[in-house]
Amino acid sequence: MTTPLAAIILAAGMGTRMKSDLHKVLHPIAGRSMLHHLIDSFATAGAARQVVVVGARRDQVEAAVMPLGATIAAQDDQLGTAHAALMARDALAGFDGIAIVAFGDTPFLTPETIAAMAARLDAPDAPRVVVLGFRPDDAKAYGRIIADADGGIEKMVEYKDASDAERAVTLCNSGVTAVRAADLWPLLDRVGNDNAAGEYYLPDIVTLARADGDRAVVVETAADEVIGINSRAELAYAEERWQAARRAQAMADGATLIAPDTVWFAHDTVIGRDVVIGQNVVFGPGVSIADGATIHAFSHIEGATVGVGAEVGPYARLRPGAVLGATSKVGNFVEIKKTVLGAGAKANHLSYLGDADIGAGANIGAGTITCNYDGFFKYRTVIGAGAFIGSNSALVAPVAVGDGAIVAAGSVVTQDVAADALALVRPPQTEKAGWAKRFRSAMTAKKAAG
Ligand code: UD1
Ligand code: CA
Repeated sequence: MTTPLAAIILAAGMGTRMKSDLHKVLHPIAGRSMLHHLIDSFATAGAARQVVVVGARRDQVEAAVMPLGATIAAQDDQLGTAHAALMARDALAGFDGIAIVAFGDTPFLTPETIAAMAARLDAPDAPRVVVLGFRPDDAKAYGRIIADADGGIEKMVEYKDASDAERAVTLCNSGVTAVRAADLWPLLDRVGNDNAAGEYYLPDIVTLARADGDRAVVVETAADEVIGINSRAELAYAEERWQAARRAQAMADGATLIAPDTVWFAHDTVIGRDVVIGQNVVFGPGVSIADGATIHAFSHIEGATVGVGAEVGPYARLRPGAVLGATSKVGNFVEIKKTVLGAGAKANHLSYLGDADIGAGANIGAGTITCNYDGFFKYRTVIGAGAFIGSNSALVAPVAVGDGAIVAAGSVVTQDVAADALALVRPPQTEKAGWAKRFRSAMTAKKAAG
């Protein structure tokens, strides 16, 4: 398909039901805003230009879409979806391809559906308008599509304006509409607002095209793809549906999820084959897990790369910049941030490792802390390959421990340790023979006396 594609994303509605200071379309699903999901789908489908129509909170939306290459068009008064779409005309000046109008609060539209709608417009029966329809379990107050068996649309009707017979129709309007730009602007110009809501309805372009003797058709898709999000409850439901699909995909791709319903992915989580994920594991954005790795229960992982065959958790926290080498191990109550753990290295218990480079095969004893922060700046700790850090050591950065060196348990290391040396930073042990026994006798006597 070579016809150029543009997206018009409507997001000027107030979104009052979210009861939020954040613009509705900026609320995240799987760690990424609704709007970003949609813009990404259009980009994947090859949309050369994307315009987001905004009203209130324009600054928030503008800041979010600028890095994504989309532009903003303002709709100062919310007079309806047809009026909103018209506001994109200047931003799309000179564009002569297919425009697809979508709603910012309907974020799961797929690139495949976008492409299918554009292709449908190019089909031999030459429809002038293509509308995306769906059949939800509960048709609620969605607009209805009255269509024939071939998908030819006879009428589009808003719920408010519909008769009982029309309300009984199960085919609903998702709002997503494909029209050639050359047709769109003149059609939108002709839309009036003589209806129950007193609004300029986008679906009215179907009626106008039909009046011109042209064809309008519906393309149907699964309800989950076009669920709209208007409230926090619907946001949570949408998240749930997204997660369910992602879990199924992870398993289809060869990962074992011991309790799938308890695993939470981010939009960009990458999972290899034969990865095992335990119960209640949460992935934030930016995570990649290589083949054969195991993530045990109750781990929280964000911005981290986990190498082949590595083992994480239970109860581990990997923060941004954690890079775990092949077959390395991070055990319970270990937090790792901006730290590279070399191949086969281990930090099995109760540690904080931040701003560190840890060599291959190093062993980080229980309770080891990299003291990376002095309240003003952060400093790095470097631990050589095969080094052994004894339990309960504090490594006061900047500091380096050489390859193969040993740090004795309980040390507070403030100076570099040479390769293969032993660093012992603690008072020598002294012993007083019989002292404990004498102490007990004296105290027992004192208590009895009085
Ligand atoms: C709309 C459709 C309805 C469809 C439903 C699907 C119309 C008239 N109705 O109804 O057929 O079943 O979506 O979810 O199109 N917006 C603006 N400016 C406006 C009005 C709306 O930008 O002046 C934006 C909103 O921010 C939202 C989208 O357009 O993203 C849809 O508006 P909304 O008021 O939610 O329409 P619905 O009543 O849900
Ligand atoms: Ca809506």
